[in-house]
Amino acid sequence: MGKMAAAVGSVATLATEPGEDAFRKLFRFYRQSRPGTPDLGGVIDFSAAHAARGTGPGAHKVIVSQLSVSSVSDHDAHRAGLQPVSKWRAYGLEGYPGYQWHWVKQCLKLYSQKPNVCNLDKHMAKEETRDLWEQSKEFLRYKEVNKRRPRSLLEKLRWVTLGYHYNWDSKKYSADHYTPFPSDLAFLSEQIAAACGFQGFRAEAGILNYYRLDSTLGIHVDRSELDHSKPLLSFSFGQSAIFLLGGLKRDEAPTAMFMHSGDIMVMSGSSRLLNHAVPKVLPSPEGKSLPCCLETPLPAVLPRDSVVEPCSVEDWKVCASYLETARVNMTVRQVLATDQDFPSEPREENKRDITAEGFCHLDDKNSPVKRARLNPDS
Ligand code: OGA
Ligand code: MN
Repeated sequence: MGKMAAAVGSVATLATEPGEDAFRKLFRFYRQSRPGTPDLGGVIDFSAAHAARGTGPGAHKVIVSQLSVSSVSDHDAHRAGLQPVSKWRAYGLEGYPGYQWHWVKQCLKLYSQKPNVCNLDKHMAKEETRDLWEQSKEFLRYKEVNKRRPRSLLEKLRWVTLGYHYNWDSKKYSADHYTPFPSDLAFLSEQIAAACGFQGFRAEAGILNYYRLDSTLGIHVDRSELDHSKPLLSFSFGQSAIFLLGGLKRDEAPTAMFMHSGDIMVMSGSSRLLNHAVPKVLPSPEGKSLPCCLETPLPAVLPRDSVVEPCSVEDWKVCASYLETARVNMTVRQVLATDQDFPSEPREENKRDITAEGFCHLDDKNSPVKRARLNPDS
C-alpha cells in the first residue's frame, strides 16, 4: 500500500486504487507519511506565523475569522484557564500552556472513571476498570526501565464517553443513558462556543479519544447529534496529528492540517457535517518527547472561582510519560436543541445493553483484533 507515494513524497504520484474516493486516497497517503520528508509539505500549519498570510502550500485556505470578544469576560476566560479572547487567534487558539496539564490529567485520571463509559468496559469486569489511573501510574512512571512489560490499562484505553453516552452500535444518544457532564469541561466549552458566536451552547455529550502513535480515526461525519446548528468542539493534547477535513461527500479531496497540543477546532455552520479523519499521529521529533508547550507549567495565579486546578508534579509525571507516545482528543457536543426531547424509541432499542458490543472508530495498526470502523458515510 502507498509504495509510490512513500518514495516520491507527493500525493499526485499516489496511484488511486480501483473505486477509491479522493478522501480515502489522501487518508492512505498521510497514514504512510514519514515526518521529516516532503510528505508533510501540503499540511497546513496554523501555528506557523505565516499561515494567515497565505504563503505556504494550501495556506490560501486559511482565513482569519473574527471572535466575539465581548461575549466572554476576561475573568471567565481566566477561570477556564484561557487567555483573554482578544489574544486568541481564530484559526488556531494558542493554549495557556499551564492549563493543558489540567485537561490532560482530567482525561487520564478523572474522566476515565465511572460512571463514564469506556472501551474497556465490554471486555472487563466492573471492579477491574474501577480506577485505571491508580492501576497504571506506577507502570507509566517506570516505562523506560521496563520496556517489555505488559500494557497498562491506561495504555489500552481508547475512548471514554461523557454525558449522553454515545452508542457505537445504534449510532445514537438516548435519554436513558446519561450521567452528569463534567462541570469544568462544560464551562470551558461554553466559553469557547460563546467566543465563536454560539451563546447558550450546552455541553451534553463528550467523546474522548486516546490515540497511540499507530492509531488512526476513520473517515466519518458526526451527524448523531439532533441539532446540527450547534457547533462541535474538539480539543487536542499531546503529540501532533494530521487532521483531514473534506467535503459533504467522500469524493471531495480533503484539506490536510496539523492539530497540535492546545489547538481547539470548532466545526460549525456549513462545516459541521463535513467528512473528516485522522490518518496519522506524528511521533515526536528526535530528542524531544513532549511538545514544548507542555514542558513547563506557567507560574499562574488562579482566580478564586477557577474551574481549572493546579496539577501536582507527581500527577504530571504520569501524564507526561503517557503523552510521550500518545494524543488525547476531547470532543464536546450539544445533542438536543433548546427545549427538544429525544424522539421516543421502540422498546427493544431501549432494552439493549449499550456497552455489550460497542464499536470504536479508533483503529490501531498493530492491534491483533481489528475493530469495525464506523460506516464510512455515517
Ligand atoms: C471525533 C473526531 C477528531 C480528532 O471524535 O469525532 O473527529 O482530532 N475527533 O481526534
Ligand atoms: Mn468527528
